Amino acid sequence: MNLTTAEITTNSAEQTEQIAEQIGKRLRGGEVIELISDLGGGKTTFVRGLARGIGSPDHVSSPTFKISNVYKADRLELDHFDFYRLNEAGVVADELAEIIGQPNVVAVIEWGEIVHDILPEERITITFKLGGETARKLTISSPDKISYLLEGIC
Ligand SMILES: Nc1ncnc2c1ncn2[C@@H]1O[C@H](COP(=O)(O)OP(=O)(O)OP(=O)(O)O)[C@@H](O)[C@H]1O
Ligand SMILES: [Mg+2]
Repeated sequence: MNLTTAEITTNSAEQTEQIAEQIGKRLRGGEVIELISDLGGGKTTFVRGLARGIGSPDHVSSPTFKISNVYKADRLELDHFDFYRLNEAGVVADELAEIIGQPNVVAVIEWGEIVHDILPEERITITFKLGGETARKLTISSPDKISYLLEGIC
């Protein structure tokens, strides 16, 4: 599988949200996005932009305690998972496996190591590296099949 990799540096949370919003506008449904960083890297901030991009008015917050949140828009639904507090993926992994690839659902995952075996190979991976207080380097890796998400952005 051929992967295209792009790097973007943002200098504020707003800028990270804006990049995510542009990607969110290009979502068609069925995509899987994995977000990787240390604590406070900007993953949930990015999800806030994605939700805005699909046109969801729903409030985005860290699903750490509930494990997953759903943000609904007219044509798409964004399912947001955070496995940080789980030692075993259990039923939440079953839930994730069930929604992956559904035509109107986009899955976005934080701390997804424990569900790597159920994530499709064809997923976008975004790694956030902290550089000072407000700089973040985003490395976006996308299979060609879903490179439309990055068209005109990077
Ligand atoms: N360039 C930036 N991009 C994103 N967030 C930034 C940036 N600069 C500062 N921030 C701040 O960093 C914090 C990122 O928090 P966020 O909850 O998005 O991270 P996270 O990766 O989801 O953390 P966790 O692993 O705990 O879930 C926020 O307080 C945000 O305002
Ligand atoms: Mg988070």
